[in-house]
Amino acid sequence: MADLRSDFLGIKSPNPFWLASAPPTDKEINVHRAFEAGWGGVVWKTLGEDPPVVNVSGPRYTTLLGPDRRVLGLNNIELITDRPLRTNLEEIRRIKRAWPDRALIVSLMVPCTEDSWKNILAMVEDSGADGVELNFGCPHGMSERGMGSAVGQVPEYIQMVTAWCKQYSKLPVIVKLTPNITDIRAPARAAHAGGADAVSLINTINSVIAVDLDRMVMSPATDGWGSHGGYCGPAVKPIALNMVAEIARDPQTAGLPISGIGGIGSWRDAAEFIALGAGTVQVCTAAMVYGFKIVQEMCSGLANFMDERGYRSIEDFRGKAVPTVKNWNQLNLNYVEKAVINQDSCIQCGRCHIVCEDTSHQAIFASKDGQRHFEVNEAECVGCNLCVSICPVPDTITMRRLMPGEIDQRTGQIVSGEYANWTTHANNPMRVTG
Ligand SMILES: Cc1cc2nc3c(=O)[nH]c(=O)nc-3n(C[C@H](O)[C@H](O)[C@H](O)COP(=O)(O)O)c2cc1C
Ligand code: SF4
Ligand code: SF4
Repeated sequence: MADLRSDFLGIKSPNPFWLASAPPTDKEINVHRAFEAGWGGVVWKTLGEDPPVVNVSGPRYTTLLGPDRRVLGLNNIELITDRPLRTNLEEIRRIKRAWPDRALIVSLMVPCTEDSWKNILAMVEDSGADGVELNFGCPHGMSERGMGSAVGQVPEYIQMVTAWCKQYSKLPVIVKLTPNITDIRAPARAAHAGGADAVSLINTINSVIAVDLDRMVMSPATDGWGSHGGYCGPAVKPIALNMVAEIARDPQTAGLPISGIGGIGSWRDAAEFIALGAGTVQVCTAAMVYGFKIVQEMCSGLANFMDERGYRSIEDFRGKAVPTVKNWNQLNLNYVEKAVINQDSCIQCGRCHIVCEDTSHQAIFASKDGQRHFEVNEAECVGCNLCVSICPVPDTITMRRLMPGEIDQRTGQIVSGEYANWTTHANNPMRVTG
């Protein structure tokens, strides 16, 4: 049986599934129940200085729903904890005593002054927590007060605050990054330079999720007015995966431990983050939508996957996909695939023909001998994968690789077995020669 135990910066947890800093981790009763359900760790809802912030007393969340009413995305305008610092610290102390085998990280956000960070770090260390996570990510409310993503968007501030935290605390320091930035490598490098033990990402994406067209007001609204919020849930996973991969493969941050966050709702999502280098994963929206017990399916699914593939521990496959991530100009331009339709399972709905005809390469015939019949015209197919992506019957359209020596009917050329990319291509005016 696969061993799901995780050792992240020396912080041990029975599995790599942590609840992200958010409503599921904002008080003792929640965290207690989360641990009972099986979560390996939690990042406590972000603490700030007293007096606590004040939240709106009305809608804080709005969802983006799919046609089946499943939550695809969640937007929130909630701030950090609105409970007194002492109450949180007392609860953290009790939880850590009651659950010594679970990871308990405390998320922090205070003004950008050395004294503010020094003071709160001492209190957190005293609570018995395993580590701190610096919240440089929230894109709403707190950022307008010079905290959260306002810090996360300035690499110099990230480095400065991280260095203070390393100076004033013995606890491992995880820097939580904002995705509201052009190149995620800059803040990750800054965290690394400041001495961060790890980075976690992503926090939420700045967003306006919807407009109520009857009231002509955005959503969620407070007394008829709205404000931008933070977007998360399944829809943000691709953005998070890309950012995790960029950090994992950047020579300047390679090896920097990563806690992956963003749209994780299943063991498969978690495995993808781990394959791209994450040592632990954090979950918020999925727990808010389905409850704490989803962790049980996540654990059993991940263990099954690992057993099937012969991975004994998380480390056995962590980062395994990282070396396959390249810049576009490194992709092999001599590699050719064509779509193939399985006539036995095709239900003749015609969707592949329509999408290829209207928006791709007019490469799917819709009839044969006067009969409805869908077949790929290899002389036009560029192998784009659109038809595979939209076909409602799984595995009915597959891609076939043309082997070296075969003729590509589209170009009339013999497929070469040589690897050749854009950097040396004849059409590239900037090509490297010799
Ligand atoms: C309602 C809500 C409140 C949040 N509050 C915090 C917070 O206090 N501190 C923090 O670092 N992240 C906060 N987050 C962001 C989450 O920790 C997480 O980074 C983000 O939701 C992406 O993960 P997900 O797609 O699993 O939700 C919050 C998210 C939500 C939905
Ligand atoms: S989309 Fe799939 S099922 Fe529909 S016609 Fe094309 S191959 Fe057949
Ligand atoms: S792979 Fe692209 S070009 Fe080829 S048949 Fe499918 S949609 Fe058309």
